[in-house]
Order: sequence, then C-alpha cells, then structure tokens
Amino acid sequence: MEKIILTGDRPTGRLHLGHYVGSLKRRVELQNSGEYDKIFIMIADAQALTDNADNPEKVRQNIVEVALDYLSVGLDPEKSTLFIQSMVPELTELTFYYANLVTVSRLQRNPTVKSEIQMRNFETSIPVGFFTYPISQAADITAFKATTVPVGEDQMPMLEQCQEIVHKFNATYGEALVEPKILLPSNSACLRLPGTDGKAKMSKSLGNCIYLSDGPDEVKKKVMSMYTDPGHVDLNQPGKIEGNAVFTYLDAFSKDEDFAEFWPDYKNLQEAKDHYQRGGLGDVKVKKFLIKVLEKELAPIRERRKKWEQDIPGVYEILKAGSEVAERTAAETLADVKKAMKINYFDDGALIKEQMEKYSNKK
Ligand code: TRP
Repeated sequence: MEKIILTGDRPTGRLHLGHYVGSLKRRVELQNSGEYDKIFIMIADAQALTDNADNPEKVRQNIVEVALDYLSVGLDPEKSTLFIQSMVPELTELTFYYANLVTVSRLQRNPTVKSEIQMRNFETSIPVGFFTYPISQAADITAFKATTVPVGEDQMPMLEQCQEIVHKFNATYGEALVEPKILLPSNSACLRLPGTDGKAKMSKSLGNCIYLSDGPDEVKKKVMSMYTDPGHVDLNQPGKIEGNAVFTYLDAFSKDEDFAEFWPDYKNLQEAKDHYQRGGLGDVKVKKFLIKVLEKELAPIRERRKKWEQDIPGVYEILKAGSEVAERTAAETLADVKKAMKINYFDDGALIKEQMEKYSNKK
C-alpha cells in the first residue's frame, strides 16, 4: 500500500515557533526521508471560515503568509503538493455524504470541538459549519487516502473521529476508504511549546508568540522579556526549571553542539539546568544563549522567506498547480465513494441494464 501524508493548517495568522516544533519541522524531515509516496500539505481556508465567517479578508491575507512560511521552512513543491482546501470542491461533497454517518451527540462529545466552543464563547449560537468541521476534516484526510497524518496532540480527537467515519463507511458501503494513523511529534518538549509569557500555548490572541517571520531584533526583544521563574529574583538563589519557559524552549531547540559553539561553560543542557537550580546562574545568560540557538535555526528560514517574498506570483503558481493535483486525486476518491454508495448512476452499465430488464418484462 502507498504511504501517503496529508496535513495542514488554518490560514488565520502567520506560523510561529509552536507550529514549527509541533509540526513544520517534522513535516520537512518526513518529506526529505524519501519514505512517503505522496505528501499533501493543505492550507485549510474552508475550515478557517467555519469560525471566521465574518472575516474572509483575514483568511485571504493569510493564505500567502502560510504558504511563505511553508516554503521558508523547507517544504519543497517538487516533493510535496501544497494546495488550498477550497480549490478542491470534492472535499465539500465528501463532507456532505460523511455527515450521514455521524450523530450530533458524537460531535458534541468531541473534546476539541467542546473546548473550542468554550474558547470562542459560542454558547448556544454555534455555527453548524463550525460544529461539523470534524466531518470535513475526515473528508480532507480520506480524499487523499492518507495513511499518515502528522499533527499535534490537540488533533487526536479529530483523527479518532475520522477513523470512526472510515469504519462506518467501509462497514456500510464496502471498503472504499483508507484508515489513517496519527503521527505525533517525537520529542516530548515539542508536544506543546508554551508562549513567551509561560502560558500553556502560543496563541496570536495572547500576543505570546515568536513568529517564523520575526526579524532578529524582534526575536531578541521577545526572548529577553520571556517568562522564567518569578521567584528567581536574586541570581544566587536557586531557580526553578519546571514551568520556566526559557528552559522549555531550550529543551525543544538546543543541542550539545550549541553549548560547544555558544556557551562552552557547560557541556550540555543538563549541566546548565543543574547550575540554575543550585543558584548562581542568572536568567540573562540563559536567555542570551537561547537567542543564539534560535537564531541558528531561524536565520536560514528567514533567508528563504526573503527570497520567496520577492516572487509572490510564483508562490500563487505553486498553490494553483498543487490545487490541480489535489483536485484530481480527490476526484478519484469521490468516484470510489459514489460507486460504493450506489450514486454513480451514469457510470453504472449494470444499473441501466437492470432497469431496462425490469421494464422489458412488463411488455
Ligand atoms: N485542524 C487543523 C488545524 O487547526 C487544520 C486541518 C484541516 C487539518 N484539515 C486537516 C490537519 C486534515 C490535518 C489533517 O490546524
């Protein structure tokens, strides 16, 4: 069986370090591993509209931002198909048929939907499109016969819901859909990068993100004002590592070589942590190291972004060509689905014959 990846992001803002460690970096590794037959990376504009119905301009503006972020981290249109969700109308059609296989109460129990409803204060006025987006996400995944969906742990309930839809479909209509597997980030620090303010998650609305497109000065400013251990006022006092965002970022980004290169006082992160916990190591030194570590990762990304920013028509061309490939692929799956569901009236010679015979007996 072919190994196929499908994943994507909502275009509601520029991508940040949380996206990078949580998914983008891994995608590039998977792309370059040569282990996958096909890789589809989707800009989920239709899904973004499910809770931004009144702000299409935001979605429109962020398509190119997300595409630039993709290209700048090293997603390569020669190896991965980059496309826009709404340019593949087959996905909407699949969603409509899958919706028959899902109950309202099952959607209400989806933990991601539940928490998003709370976060967005929808209360009793939940848009139907938003409420049913797990079904549309199942269409995204199955349309490409994806075997592997690399996403963050927050997407686990979406994958479970998708697997249920696949089982239900195949049991009801015959095996037409492929069951996908989730691929979670490997390094535990990468599961969720906290915001620069120490809050659980980077989020645009909290203003605690470091963006892939931030310049060196912005990165420096953001790191220098990062949340550490609020009890660590005197550098000679012991400091706490747990909940200290600077150390969490170092867990996610720093390597032993970085110590040799930028901070030879320590062999590795554990030594620096030990010193911090004993007392005698100040936040500023740790932050300065973190800035260097981040810069090493971000500088080449920034360079590539600058190049693509000079070729915006080229970026749209890539998305257009990718969307055409994606549509052809999804059309094949939709044909399989319609055949399984017996709604392929005009392609089914046997059906026409059967109906003919029914009436020829009446003569
Ligand atoms: N829900 C994902 C997000 O919020 C985006 C997405 C849409 C997606 N369809 C998908 C991810 C299919 C993986 C597979 O970022």
